[in-house]
Amino acid sequence: SLLTAVQLALGEVIGAYAIAILDKEHPDEIVAARKSSPLVVGIGEDEFFLASDATPIVEYTDKVVYLEDGEIAVINRGEELKVVDLNNVEMTPEVKKVELNLGQLEKGGYPHFMLKEIFEQPDCIHDCMRGRINVDADNVVLSAVIDNKERLLSAKRFIIVACGTSWHAGLIGKQLIESFCRIPVEVEYASEFRYRDPVINEQDVVIAISQSGETADTLAAVELAKSRGAFIYGICNAIGSSIPRATHTGSYIHVGPEIGVASTKAFTGQVTVLAMLALTLAKEKGTIDERYYLSVVRELNQIPEKMKEVLKLNDKLAELSKTFTYAHNFIYLGRGYSYPVALEGALKLKEISYIHAEGYPAAEMKHGPIALIDAEMPVVVIATQNALYEKVLSNIQEIKARKGRVIAFVTKGDMVISQIADCSIELPETIECLNPLITTVPLQLLAYHIAVCKGMDVDQPRNLAKSVTVE
Ligand code: AGP
Repeated sequence: SLLTAVQLALGEVIGAYAIAILDKEHPDEIVAARKSSPLVVGIGEDEFFLASDATPIVEYTDKVVYLEDGEIAVINRGEELKVVDLNNVEMTPEVKKVELNLGQLEKGGYPHFMLKEIFEQPDCIHDCMRGRINVDADNVVLSAVIDNKERLLSAKRFIIVACGTSWHAGLIGKQLIESFCRIPVEVEYASEFRYRDPVINEQDVVIAISQSGETADTLAAVELAKSRGAFIYGICNAIGSSIPRATHTGSYIHVGPEIGVASTKAFTGQVTVLAMLALTLAKEKGTIDERYYLSVVRELNQIPEKMKEVLKLNDKLAELSKTFTYAHNFIYLGRGYSYPVALEGALKLKEISYIHAEGYPAAEMKHGPIALIDAEMPVVVIATQNALYEKVLSNIQEIKARKGRVIAFVTKGDMVISQIADCSIELPETIECLNPLITTVPLQLLAYHIAVCKGMDVDQPRNLAKSVTVE
């Protein structure tokens, strides 16, 4: 039979796959299987659908079955879905309801999904915090943290595994968790972590951050850590995707489907969940000052409104972006919580405008990269008010002394850096640890408008995929 043939063949296959097989002698049957690549079966009225995730199916049905590795779906016209494993053991498929609506899958009048998703961020962050921040009671609760607090509090260290933008969010998570919870945090590229035979202990907690929940390297890192006894906490967006299903627990970021290849609202959603995780854990551990805790919770609740203020800069940033379409290189600088934002801003520009850009800790400039500075080199500096403001000021002066062109993002009312930068953009003030939620947004807009000026395919940049389900 087709099923037996597929089972025998897959027994010899090496590597990742998501496949559907038909037999022209039996046109009413489809056999589908997956390993390390996502595969979803949509269950309609007398019809079935196969896709890599629920998004393309949702306009036809909201009932889906997420296949697991080693499972085979046997679809026959007019019959119930059948799922067996490679040894022909039948399993009961778990039918899930897809919480998506078509409106979320359209541009809603925006020219690109990316711009829509940048502008959605205030509402998305509000949704991300819904039911988790109770400002009346002045507290924040992530249920997955509370439900697993003994295991999390006993952790000797946290290891964050992620790729790309999610890895940048991890760098911010490190600073939040270490600062609030006083637990050491290591941030690892999942692709490196999975192959270097890392030391993993049973007391370790591994946080896997992934928008798609299907990134092959992050999924492999999760499986490796789990096999060595670590407790796995997922921070993902795509409900029911492979990584959340592979973790022990986790928190969805609830920002809705992110269609643009360049991640925007997922990044701010990930940072928001990491802040809530660190706050919840620190409160349980008793390692955070009560007044400071309250100030962060209250400020977190103000972030959506402050993001709306930043979005009013859209036209100004669109105008500014015209000045820099000539550039072939950019440098992004930041310190402390702004260093990962500099990395993220550089990645946004790279991946949609194809202009080379590097993010750097501002103080690192004098250890080599400052040799790159000349009148042609735009340098974006995140220079908002914080404990390192004076240091960033001197970094900017070093760049100006070498004729660099500085675009500074400063706190509203700044009277110093805004006087020496070639261009300064004022942003609403917030608590230092939440600054990334404010300072990332103008960098997303800057990258977007430069790419649009250059006529690039913003939503589907060359060479990129929204979910890197292969190594
Ligand atoms: C970000 O703009 C990129 N699209 C890419 O770096 C992405 O963040 C990375 O591939 C990780 O994807 P994930 O969050 O879905 O795991």
